Amino acid sequence: MQFPETPERHLPTGCKVVAFANQKGGVAKTTTTLNLAVAFAEEGHRVLCVDMDPQGNLTMSQGVDPDTLERSMYDVLVHRLPLREVIHRREIDVACASIDLAGAEIAMSTMIGRERALEKALAEVKPDYDFVFVDTPPSLGLLTINALTAANKVIVPVQCEYLSMRGLIQLQNTLAMIRENLNPDVDIEGILPTLVDTRTLHAKEAIELLEENFGDRVFASRIRKTIRFAEAPVKGMSVLKYDPDGLAAHAYRQLAKEVLSHANR
Ligand SMILES: Nc1ncnc2c1ncn2[C@@H]1O[C@H](COP(=O)(O)OP(=O)(O)OP(=O)(O)O)[C@@H](O)[C@H]1O
Ligand SMILES: [Mg+2]
Repeated sequence: MQFPETPERHLPTGCKVVAFANQKGGVAKTTTTLNLAVAFAEEGHRVLCVDMDPQGNLTMSQGVDPDTLERSMYDVLVHRLPLREVIHRREIDVACASIDLAGAEIAMSTMIGRERALEKALAEVKPDYDFVFVDTPPSLGLLTINALTAANKVIVPVQCEYLSMRGLIQLQNTLAMIRENLNPDVDIEGILPTLVDTRTLHAKEAIELLEENFGDRVFASRIRKTIRFAEAPVKGMSVLKYDPDGLAAHAYRQLAKEVLSHANR
């Protein structure tokens, strides 16, 4: 991963923040955040996942019921509760979210520094982690802007179909705006083809189109469609734990190797 070598504002540690973003819904942002985090943890890295989505899917997929949470990312962003207090220790550490986070965008809208609430909250926990992975909701609103402002890098899961391409241009425009105003060094680490159905010509053509437009920003790893990804969250597990020797687990381990090897480029 090509992270800046000089320490940045709010980044006195070696901790890297990676946001998983795509305003399109259901493209495997949450699945990728969790499973890549667990694959990084298997490689010996200390990883924190932050759930910035009011749907709380990441929270649920580690077996935490969002409806029972007394404190969550809402309190961190809006009331400046220390982030440590919403971390639950599961396969990896998860800073949990619940539906009240949906109100955070409005509650934060009049706050000075509203785009930097997550960046500020992360500063105190960064010394404890090598990586912070931030899952974002399917929108380019203030929650996603907070994630992109706190991030060193962005991984963009993309479902392989033509319509996804337009969304990527929109995301790139948002990133350009963030770079200009809030976080000069944030950049796309890679674009990840997900939900790939290798049997169809459409998927093959869509990947080719992605590569034509985004070149070597498209990861070599591909995540194929398999029912395991739907089964694992029901058990509150990553696919790496649910089916450790399966193709799905292997795909995310492969992606972890690819992302980590970029650090040495
Ligand atoms: N490779 C895959 N094969 C089959 N199903 C998958 C795969 N990856 C994810 N899924 C399933 O697709 C659905 C959407 O995945 P996920 O929740 O990760 O997407 P998302 O981008 O986070 O969605 P949202 O935009 O709503 O947050 C889930 O039911 C998940 O289990
Ligand atoms: Mg999600």
